[in-house]
Amino acid sequence: MAAEPINQFRDVARVYDSLMAPVPYRHWVDYVERLWERFGVRPRRVLDLACGTGNVASELLRRGYEVDGVDASEAMLRQARRKARGRIGFYHQDARHLDLPRCYDACVCLFDSLNYLLEWDDLVQACAGVRRHLEPGGTFVFDMNAIRALADGMFNQQGFGRDRRLYYLWRSQWDPATRRCQIDMQFHHQTRRGTQVYYERHVQRGYTLTEILTALSAGGLEGLAAFEAFTFDPPTARTDRYYFVARRPAG
Ligand SMILES: C[S@@+](CC[C@H](N)C(=O)[O-])C[C@H]1O[C@@H](n2cnc3c(N)ncnc32)[C@H](O)[C@@H]1O
Repeated sequence: MAAEPINQFRDVARVYDSLMAPVPYRHWVDYVERLWERFGVRPRRVLDLACGTGNVASELLRRGYEVDGVDASEAMLRQARRKARGRIGFYHQDARHLDLPRCYDACVCLFDSLNYLLEWDDLVQACAGVRRHLEPGGTFVFDMNAIRALADGMFNQQGFGRDRRLYYLWRSQWDPATRRCQIDMQFHHQTRRGTQVYYERHVQRGYTLTEILTALSAGGLEGLAAFEAFTFDPPTARTDRYYFVARRPAG
C-alpha cells in the first residue's frame, strides 16, 4: 500500500450530508430502539460515539433522548454543532481515549465507525472507554463492516450527492495480509466559486466476529448478541454488516 497520508473526514465533512442523503438514519434508529427493547433497556441518556455530522444524535434527540456526541474529526463536529444549535453536547475526542464528564445509559456507534480503528488493541481501548462511560447495566450497540464486504469492494463507488453539484469517485484496495481496506476518494464539488476538487484517503480494517467479541470482553464489556444488520438473525458468511449488542456488567 502506498504511503500517502490518511486524511479522512476533513474536506468530506462539507459534503457528508449531501453524500449521505439516501441513508435511512430514521430506520437505523428504529432498529437500535428495537434492539434496546429486545434486551429490556430503556435508556434516557445516550452517547453517540463517532457521531460525525450528528445525524444519529439528532434523530435520537428528536425522539426525546438526552444525547451527547463524540468524534475525532473537528470538521465533522463543526457541521454537527451547526445543525444541533446547542441541543446536543459535542466532544472532540478519539474513541481510544474517551474522557467525558458524565456516564450514559447507552452508547451507540453506527455506520462502520469502529472499522476505522486499525489495530485490535485500538478496538479494546475503545470498548474500555465505552465501559468507563456506561452506567452499570448500560448497553453498547454498534455496527461494523464484515471482512467479506470490504474484500469484495463495497467502497468501489461513484455517483452524485443530493444534487448533481457533487460528484464522487471512490476506489478501494483490499490487503488480505493486514485486512486493511484503503479507499481513495475523489470529490468534484461545484460551488459559487467554481469547481473544487479534493481527495481523501480512508482506511478501514476488517475484523472477524471472534476478534470483535474478544475485544469487547478485553474492554470489560459483555457481548450479548451479534446480528445480521437490521434483523434479529445471526450473521452468516454472506453478511455485509454486523450489529452487536454489549453491556457493562451490572456488578
Ligand atoms: C462513516 S462516519 C459515521 C458518522 C456517523 N456515525 C454517521 O452515522 O453518520 C465515521 C466517523 O467515525 C469518526 N472516527 C473515525 N475514527 C475515529 C476515532 N478514532 N475516534 C472517534 N471518531 C472516529 C470519523 O471522524 C467519522 O465522523
